[in-house]
Amino acid sequence: MNKTILIVDDSQLVQQMYSQQLKNIAGKLLHAQDGIEAINIAITEQPDLILLDIQMPRINGYQVCRLLKDRNDTKNITIVIMTSRSSEGPVLDPRTWSFQTGADGYFDKDSGEGLEAFIKPFLEKNCENERKQALSPMSEMEILTAISRLLDRQLYTDVTRLKELNERKNAFVANVSHEFKSPLGIIKGFLDNLKDGICGPLSQEQLEAVRICLNTSNRLSRLVFDLLDLAKIEAGKMELEMQEVDMDRLISQTIETFSLEMKKKGVSVKKEFDYDLRLIMGDQDKLTQVIVNLLSNSLKYSPENGVITFRLFYDNDFLRFEIEDTGPGISPDYMAKIFDKFERVKADKREGTGLGLAVAKDIVDLHKGQIWVESEQGKGAKFIVKLPVPKI
Ligand SMILES: Nc1ncnc2c1ncn2[C@@H]1O[C@H](COP(=O)(O)OP(=O)(O)OP(=O)(O)O)[C@@H](O)[C@H]1O
Ligand SMILES: [Mg+2]
Repeated sequence: MNKTILIVDDSQLVQQMYSQQLKNIAGKLLHAQDGIEAINIAITEQPDLILLDIQMPRINGYQVCRLLKDRNDTKNITIVIMTSRSSEGPVLDPRTWSFQTGADGYFDKDSGEGLEAFIKPFLEKNCENERKQALSPMSEMEILTAISRLLDRQLYTDVTRLKELNERKNAFVANVSHEFKSPLGIIKGFLDNLKDGICGPLSQEQLEAVRICLNTSNRLSRLVFDLLDLAKIEAGKMELEMQEVDMDRLISQTIETFSLEMKKKGVSVKKEFDYDLRLIMGDQDKLTQVIVNLLSNSLKYSPENGVITFRLFYDNDFLRFEIEDTGPGISPDYMAKIFDKFERVKADKREGTGLGLAVAKDIVDLHKGQIWVESEQGKGAKFIVKLPVPKI
C-alpha cells in the first residue's frame, strides 16, 4: 500500500518501535515529537493516517485531533488516538473522549492487539481519498490561538447544554413537589380531624401516635415547600406577591404554630420588639417561610429548656429581625457555607436536608434584604434578617 502514516509520539524509541510494526503496510512513514510539529506536518504533508499519542509536551493529542478535525484541509485525514493504562492522561475515559474530539479510531496499547492489524482497515477505507494540496505551516502562536478558540466554542456548547439540563431538572423538581402538596394536605387534614376527636375519641397512646404523624408530615410539607421554592427561584420563576406585611404579627403567628413542639422540649420564647413598628412591603407567605425555616432550626438546635429570643427593631432604612438560640452555635468555617444548597455541618447528626437556609436566603435576596448569621461556637447562633422599609 502506498500510504503515508504520521506517527506522533514524544519518545523516539516508541516511534522506532511503531515504525518497525507498520513498515509493511505504509509506503512512507513520518514522525513528529510534539503536537505543534504534528499539526504542521499534517498540514504540509497531508498523510493518510495519523497515529497520535495523548501525553505530549505543550499541547496534548486531544487538542491536536480537535484542531485538525476542525480545519477543512485536514479534517479528512484518519486519526487514531493511542493510550495505555499505565500513562495517566488528562481525562478519565480516554476512549469516549477520543471519539468526542473527532478521532476515527482508538487504539488501546494494553489490549494485546497487533498495531498493524488494527491500522490496516483504516488505510483500506481511506483509499479513495484524493490528496489535498499542501498548505503552508502555522506558527506556534497561531496554533495556540486556534486551540484556545476551539476550547471557547466547546465551553459555550457545554454550558448551553448544562443550562438546558438544569432547566429540565428544575421543572421536574417543581412538578414533583407540586404534586406532593395536595396529598400531603389531605393527610394532614385527616390527622387534624383525628387529633381533634372529630372521628371519635382517641386513647392517650393513639393521640400520641397521631401527634407524631402530624409532626412528621409538617416537616415533610416544609421540605416540599422548600424544594418547590428553590426550583422556582432557580428557574427565575419565583414571583413575589407584594403587599403590606406586619412582621410583628407574622412572627407571633409562626411562633404559635411551633408552640406544641416548643412545649415538648421545654423551650421558651423571649420577644424584644420595638413598640413602634410600621408595615413593610413583602410577600407574606414567603416571609413566613423564612421565619419558619429559621425558627425550625433554632428549635432543632436548642437544648432542652433552652431560650429562643426574637428581636424586631429599626436599623437605618431597614427592619431588622433577629432570632437567637442557646444551642451549640456554628463554627466560623461553616458560617458562609450553611446558606448554600444541601450544605450542612458535617458532624451534625440531626435530621435535615440543608435546604432551609438556602431558600430563606433566596427569598430575602428577592426582597432586596440581607441575611447572615453571627455565632460563637458553644454559645448559640443568631440569625439576622434585614428587610427594606418603604420610605414615606
Ligand atoms: N440555629 C442553628 N444552630 C446551629 N446550627 C445551625 C442552626 N441553623 C442552621 N444550622 C446549621 O446549618 C445547616 C443548614 O441549615 P438548613 O436549615 O439550611 O438545613 P437543615 O436544617 O439541615 O435542613 P432543612 O432545613 O432542609 O430541613 C444545618 O444543618 C446546621 O448544621
Ligand atoms: Mg433547617
